[in-house]
Amino acid sequence: MRFFRLVAFFSSLGLLMVSGSSTPKCPDSCTCPEHPEDLFVIDCSGLSALVLPNNTLQVDCLQDFDPDKFPGKFPSAPEVSLTNCPPDTFSSHLTKSLFLRNLSKPTSRVRLGSWPSLQKLDVSHNELEFLSSRFLEGMNGVVQLDLSRCRLLFIYPFVFKDFSLLQELYLEDNKLTEIEDNQFEELSSLWLLHLWGNRLSRLENNSFSGLTELRQLDLSHNRLSTINPVILAPLKKLQHLDLSHNRFQSLPGNLLRHSSKLQVFKFEHNLKQSVRNPDAEWLQTIEIPQGFLSDLPDLRRASFAESAVAVVPRFLLRGSASLTHLNLKGNRLTTIPRFFLHDAVQLRWLDLSHNQLSNVTGDLLSGLSTSLLYLNVSNNRLSSLPPGAVYESVHVLDMRHNEYETLSNDVTQQLRKNVDLRELFFVQGNPWNCKDRNTEELFKIIVQILDKGVASDFESGC
Ligand SMILES: *[C@@H]1O[C@H](CO)[C@@H](O)[C@H](O)[C@H]1NC(C)=O
Ligand SMILES: *[C@@H]1O[C@H](CO)[C@@H](O)[C@H](O)[C@H]1NC(C)=O
Ligand SMILES: *[C@@H]1O[C@H](CO)[C@@H](O)[C@H](O)[C@H]1NC(C)=O
Ligand SMILES: *[C@@H]1O[C@H](CO)[C@@H](O)[C@H](O)[C@H]1NC(C)=O
Ligand SMILES: *[C@@H]1O[C@H](CO)[C@@H](O)[C@H](O)[C@H]1NC(C)=O
Repeated sequence: MRFFRLVAFFSSLGLLMVSGSSTPKCPDSCTCPEHPEDLFVIDCSGLSALVLPNNTLQVDCLQDFDPDKFPGKFPSAPEVSLTNCPPDTFSSHLTKSLFLRNLSKPTSRVRLGSWPSLQKLDVSHNELEFLSSRFLEGMNGVVQLDLSRCRLLFIYPFVFKDFSLLQELYLEDNKLTEIEDNQFEELSSLWLLHLWGNRLSRLENNSFSGLTELRQLDLSHNRLSTINPVILAPLKKLQHLDLSHNRFQSLPGNLLRHSSKLQVFKFEHNLKQSVRNPDAEWLQTIEIPQGFLSDLPDLRRASFAESAVAVVPRFLLRGSASLTHLNLKGNRLTTIPRFFLHDAVQLRWLDLSHNQLSNVTGDLLSGLSTSLLYLNVSNNRLSSLPPGAVYESVHVLDMRHNEYETLSNDVTQQLRKNVDLRELFFVQGNPWNCKDRNTEELFKIIVQILDKGVASDFESGC
């Protein structure tokens, strides 16, 4: 009976199972009788097992699983996916990737089977809660370990002590509140560490010691309010640091002093969550220390969006010659210091929207005549456009919801030339003075370039 059920299942997969160069090997514990329709049929009586065309072996232990009939040793499939199985029932000497779904409890203190060739282990979406050394015993050849979404509350010390080959560790979306001192110390090959979406409110001084190869560290969506620069000091090769969606109220000036290879720094949506009272929130600001991002020659992207920043220091970007993206949206900036972007000669994308800017100095965009592509100054209190906002390189300009009454003659002339900008040019929500010659000129250009429906919106504004 079971035999026919499997045949029916494979038939429903259609020609996927037709024999050919990609025909899977018959699993050791099963038989693979010839089939008139050239289907590859596996009979694993007692075990519901499928070998997918890409050689993945899928087993669901809730379906007809009979452990007595199962020899306890897995066939040669390079990729094995087990669902609803006890963690310690299986072993394979050849499998390289193992997916464990819906493990039957108890889980975290049990040793997984023996998988000496394993390189990738995915245990995500299981209810482990605690992670002990026993659970991962013998798995120390893995290079990729996914423990995300396992409701982890705590990782015992020394769990990772034999994992010197591990390169990627995914611990996101758990309930971790702390990282023990030296927890990751032996992970000398690790380049990626995801800790986002936990409940971390503090880190120990040696939380990241030993991670000399780490390139990506994601600490976003936690409860951090402070971070001591000594914590990041061991991460000499760090390229990507995400501190967004935490509760930071300040940033230490020398936080990135040891991160000379940094390429991406994200610090979005901080402060807000910690402040319930909207009035109190209004009074609080985050101060970015002078020179905070200076001397980071590889820095490409930096974001401080939605983080109650009131002042950007003059030398914030000193030496940032590789910076291409800067996001300062949704802060409390009233002004931008002179020559603020002086060294950012490759800047392509600048978002200053949703601030309280009433005046930006004429030099703001002066070095960016060939690089600037996107400029967003919407939702401020600006009445004049900084020269350079319509450089020929600029393809997107959003100046909605400001206090523009007109544009200068220079700007309108420049605008005539900038053919690329015209399609993504937003001017609504300003008190345009329709009698002014340059405004008239601006509207002529707009009418020429936009479809009639949109253009009439503008005209009716006058
Ligand atoms: C094999 O196919 C299954 C089902 O389509 C898929 O989930 C799995 O990721 C594939 N494995 C590889 C190595 O492509
Ligand atoms: C997961 O396991 C539980 C209990 O063992 C079972 O009731 C449930 O059906 C399983 N879920 C899936 C998707 O197999
Ligand atoms: C952490 O490092 C800082 C700076 O080096 C030091 O002042 C502090 O005492 C250290 N904290 C602990 C718990 O060792
Ligand atoms: C804007 O700034 C310039 C020089 O930076 C200054 O001369 C001018 O008065 C300012 N305008 C307003 C409205 O603050
Ligand atoms: C400019 O910023 C505003 C507010 O952040 C956003 O809604 C808008 O889509 C942006 N404009 C463009 C063209 O990206």
